[in-house]
Amino acid sequence: MSPNNERRTKDETVSFGGFVRPLEMGDLVQLKPILEHWVKSRDTGQPLPEEVLEDLQLMEDSVNRLNDYRYFTAVGVKGEVVGVIGMRPPDSRMLALDFLQTDKPVELVNAYVDPKQRGGKGVGRALVGMLEQAAVVQGYTEVVLNSGPRYRDTGWGFYDKLPGYQRVGVAIGYFGKDGDAPVWKKSLVS
Ligand SMILES: CC(C)(COP(=O)(O)OP(=O)(O)OC[C@H]1O[C@@H](n2cnc3c(N)ncnc32)[C@H](O)[C@@H]1OP(=O)(O)O)[C@@H](O)C(=O)NCCC(=O)NCCS
Repeated sequence: MSPNNERRTKDETVSFGGFVRPLEMGDLVQLKPILEHWVKSRDTGQPLPEEVLEDLQLMEDSVNRLNDYRYFTAVGVKGEVVGVIGMRPPDSRMLALDFLQTDKPVELVNAYVDPKQRGGKGVGRALVGMLEQAAVVQGYTEVVLNSGPRYRDTGWGFYDKLPGYQRVGVAIGYFGKDGDAPVWKKSLVS
């Protein structure tokens, strides 16, 4: 058992050989290159450093409890950071969509896995599992998410495969012109 596995707590969930736990400030330095890999212009493929910094700031503020976001980090067998996922109360544009069915939805945001670790090793699934577990504990009743055209090839198939998630519509123009984003939803109550 690795040192990291030894310090697992009840807040952590295991799969893919590693584990998932709440984001810690020290994770940000390893998350930055993962975000830089994925956060790119859908038109030009160019990096979007300002968006990466905004995301990292949201993560930092969440650790300091300065916002409503909560993030979780996937940690690999060698203790390395291999992915992140976040949740927050849905923004007003998501709430306005009329797709939600319960009083206390939570929005899944910022799912990113190290490109070398993604695509079938179970990191993303473990991150979502932890998010759902935490959401239930916090009294949330459904998970909702959208995913923009930037992630058509890398993200949409993942959400289509996730147990319990269904496409319920499209957030038209959520990401600007030609930025329609399918919306997925999963109920957390039976
Ligand atoms: C989307 C993402 C977070 C999923 O994490 P992951 O570690 O790759 O997912 P998992 O390994 O847990 O995959 C679970 C299942 O989904 C499948 N899957 C993952 N990505 C897929 C995709 N783009 N298309 C089709 N299937 C996919 C896996 O093969 C696996 O299938 P299996 O259960 O039959 O083996 C990750 O691929 C990623 O970072 N993608 C790039 C950024 C991105 O698109 N983020 C989403 C922003 S909304």
